[in-house]
Amino acid sequence: MFPFGVDYYPDQTPEKYWETDARLMQEAGINVVRMAEFAWALLEPEDGKFEFAWLDRALAILQAHGISAVLGTPGSSPPAWLIHAHPDLLRVRDDGVRIPYGNRHHFDPSHPLYWEYTRRIVTQMAEHYAQHPAVIGWQINNEFGDRSYSPENRRAFHKWLQKRYGSLEALNAAWGTMFWSHIYRQWEEIPLPLTIAGSPNPGLALDYYRFMSDAYVDYQQMQVDILRKICPTHWITHNFMGFGYPLINYFDLARNLDLVSWDNYPCDQWRNNPNPDFTAIALGHDTMRGLKQKNFWLMEQQAGAGGWEMISMAPRPGALRLWAYQGIAHGADGMVFFRWDTCRYGTEQYWHGLLDHHRQPSRRYYEIKQMGAEIACCGENIRGSKVKASIAMILSNDARFAFQIQGNNPQFNYNAHFVDIYRAFHRRQIMVDVVEPGADLSQYQIVVAPALHVVTEAIAENLKTYVSQGGTLVLTPRSGVKDASNAVVEMHLPGLLAELCGVEVEEYDSLPPEVKNQIEFVWPDKELSAAESPEVGIFCEILSPTTAQILALYKQDYYQGRPAITVNPFGLGKTVYVGTLGKETLYQPLVNWLLEIAEIQGVLSVAEGIEVTERWQDEQRILFILNHTTQNKILPLPGHWRNCLEDSAPLVGLASIPPRGVLVLAESKDENQA
Ligand code: GAL
Repeated sequence: MFPFGVDYYPDQTPEKYWETDARLMQEAGINVVRMAEFAWALLEPEDGKFEFAWLDRALAILQAHGISAVLGTPGSSPPAWLIHAHPDLLRVRDDGVRIPYGNRHHFDPSHPLYWEYTRRIVTQMAEHYAQHPAVIGWQINNEFGDRSYSPENRRAFHKWLQKRYGSLEALNAAWGTMFWSHIYRQWEEIPLPLTIAGSPNPGLALDYYRFMSDAYVDYQQMQVDILRKICPTHWITHNFMGFGYPLINYFDLARNLDLVSWDNYPCDQWRNNPNPDFTAIALGHDTMRGLKQKNFWLMEQQAGAGGWEMISMAPRPGALRLWAYQGIAHGADGMVFFRWDTCRYGTEQYWHGLLDHHRQPSRRYYEIKQMGAEIACCGENIRGSKVKASIAMILSNDARFAFQIQGNNPQFNYNAHFVDIYRAFHRRQIMVDVVEPGADLSQYQIVVAPALHVVTEAIAENLKTYVSQGGTLVLTPRSGVKDASNAVVEMHLPGLLAELCGVEVEEYDSLPPEVKNQIEFVWPDKELSAAESPEVGIFCEILSPTTAQILALYKQDYYQGRPAITVNPFGLGKTVYVGTLGKETLYQPLVNWLLEIAEIQGVLSVAEGIEVTERWQDEQRILFILNHTTQNKILPLPGHWRNCLEDSAPLVGLASIPPRGVLVLAESKDENQA
């Protein structure tokens, strides 16, 4: 059965509604709920006194309606009694202020006492629910991430540094602490990179960001260990936050989980965007699939208008279903909507679930009920089918952290740059995997590593192996600048990657917004020569080829006529070095050229606003066509197709897709069976 569900809060809902809730869920095709991740104060109303009867009753009702449950461990919102007794369990902000009680995500992940309390509640829950027939899995906490600058973290950071560097001599050398006389003679002297202290040593700051990421990974692991031991038949996940979330190394956080799930809100009240950027959302899905190179779940998929103090626009008819299918189109094998109902109380009074405050089924409920019926029919054929990508993009958390410390140019944004390049592939309906720098790249024809700023010997070797065996690697500005400790390398840029690129950066120029340049492609290729002198800016690196050939030259300024983009044959493959930043006018022709020489075709060629993806169930090809526009669209379909979402005549030739509509089609090899 394809998991199709809602986030359900019996802890926030009068018990008199539970039975009706379960019936309405069942009627909508809902077969799973996630619960209890914010219920610590009800599960442990007093220190050491545990109370599961209410959750047992809720589970019994759900189970009677064929609904199973993923339980959240409640560590992201500690009860008031705990914080009242131990206010130092609260997180400290980067300006040194301890966060007061009253919201959530305010705990300190390294505090030994917090570990104790977490260990105890998780053990109690695990023991109570290990054998429960309705419980299938666990979500650890909720949306990990905020950094803490508490004394406990400082102590834990010192230990982390001792393990990483072994000696203070090694640390002082790696960070270059002779600069401004920061030499450390005792571990305890090492400070935290608080913002009030001003611009920190980049080595110290990068290590602190890594340490904080590890602190959450460790805190999660402590819970994973308990659950694995007590509940060996249950799976374990965490709810991640997509591509853009910059504070944790998600590859590390995902490593010891059974599956990745994530929270997807295309239109919340903060952005309130009538036309959500569906390409950026697609990248979110691809990143989540990439964390374990495995299909994932949506654990919170938008179910209504978002709202805290402000309220977002109402999702238009069809939008919730469209956004949910987009996740499945990119590899989701579970779909859970946030949330079932809309709470009358608390910060999220206006965060709308499938039911409004009056709890009567209305438009959004019926839209998802339609999807529930569709998934009941076709979900099992989709579940487990694979996304096959021949392109990978490398997401480097070290680079992203390093740019948080030194942005290099106020207009530069690592995430935005990544999306710009992804967009050029996505526009061509090309499936992309997002992988970490050390990943095995051998299965990909093209690998793009945007602004790969921090490069170790191991990463450089991995990329060399990939290219020498026939791969095509694309690198962009500010690559190879930093070593593992965030010191600038003592080489021509791109440092350890210079040989692979056959190029040396002779000079770099970091431009203000009003200063632009242009490039012209000089490579004999129709895709490139069709591009009309793309505008470039932010960074212009003047390239000096050693073995590379020139693809494009700058058109202006004192480096007019000097190389901006090069291509270098290396082993059986090649490396393209793009020494400047642009937008669509630069990346689209470049990507078109790369796809052409690699002979990679998009899934289908379609109009702007239509997204097409494919998944494979063994030899069975399943096509997802998503119309993100508000107009009906007609598109040509090669081959013969069966409509998986409704009984209709076989589809051949042209397909019509309504505004915000979705087609899920199974390819039929034998036209009589279409
Ligand atoms: C998510 C979070 C949920 C809820 C939702 C709406 O980020 O996990 O608990 O807060 O946003 O704001």
